[in-house]
Amino acid sequence: MATKALIIPAAGIGSRMQKDIPKPFLQLGDCTIIEQTIQRFSSLDGLKQVIVPTSKSYLGATKEILQKALPADVEGIVLVGGNTRQESIHKALKEAGDVHLIIVHDAVRPFVRQEHICNCCEAADLNGGAVLGVPAKDTIKKIDGNRIIRETPSRKYLWQTQTPQVFQKELLMEAYQKASEDDFLGTDDSSLVERLGYTVVMVEGDRSNFKITYPLDLELAQLLVEKGRGS
Ligand code: C5P
Repeated sequence: MATKALIIPAAGIGSRMQKDIPKPFLQLGDCTIIEQTIQRFSSLDGLKQVIVPTSKSYLGATKEILQKALPADVEGIVLVGGNTRQESIHKALKEAGDVHLIIVHDAVRPFVRQEHICNCCEAADLNGGAVLGVPAKDTIKKIDGNRIIRETPSRKYLWQTQTPQVFQKELLMEAYQKASEDDFLGTDDSSLVERLGYTVVMVEGDRSNFKITYPLDLELAQLLVEKGRGS
């Protein structure tokens, strides 16, 4: 069984949520969103570390959350994140110990299923990298600067990417180092690895693993928890 470190980026300010408290620290049911998320991973086989980049003012609260949520044999590490998600994860990666796999999972995806986490880890162990996603349900258009539609790619090959995104550690470290040298800013971890030519496979998840981004997402999350559907 592969050893693993989990990175949970939680340093965003969450401007799209229109709240003073950053998204991961909003209440969801009887605890915060980030606590709900960490609980999904806390009993994962081979988990050695949970590393959380967060903002300076949430360092103490995050430390307490990790102490409460993690078993004694899993190390919790909290640090100040960067200006972008990518920077936050790069800083967190430097704290990772001697593990085989790095799992990156957004703090604001509390409904991920354990079965899907395991499937991603197995696929990353075999292939180098694996990400969870779902087939695109809408037709996606490629537009130009004037919003003229230039292309309609076949939906057969379009998937929406979620997290977890799991990679063999050495490969992810190389990808982050190279992105920093090249000033490349990606919108997910996989894009950094893909650009170096490594294989990343798509693992099928489900739509309950949505990212709490807008106020409507938070309402849906609260409804799911109230109805006991969050497990
Ligand atoms: O803003 P977005 O929804 O893409 O954020 C995804 C995740 O990345 C969130 O969990 C957020 O807290 C985190 N993030 C971060 N550092 C930043 C910006 C976002 O850790 N500078």
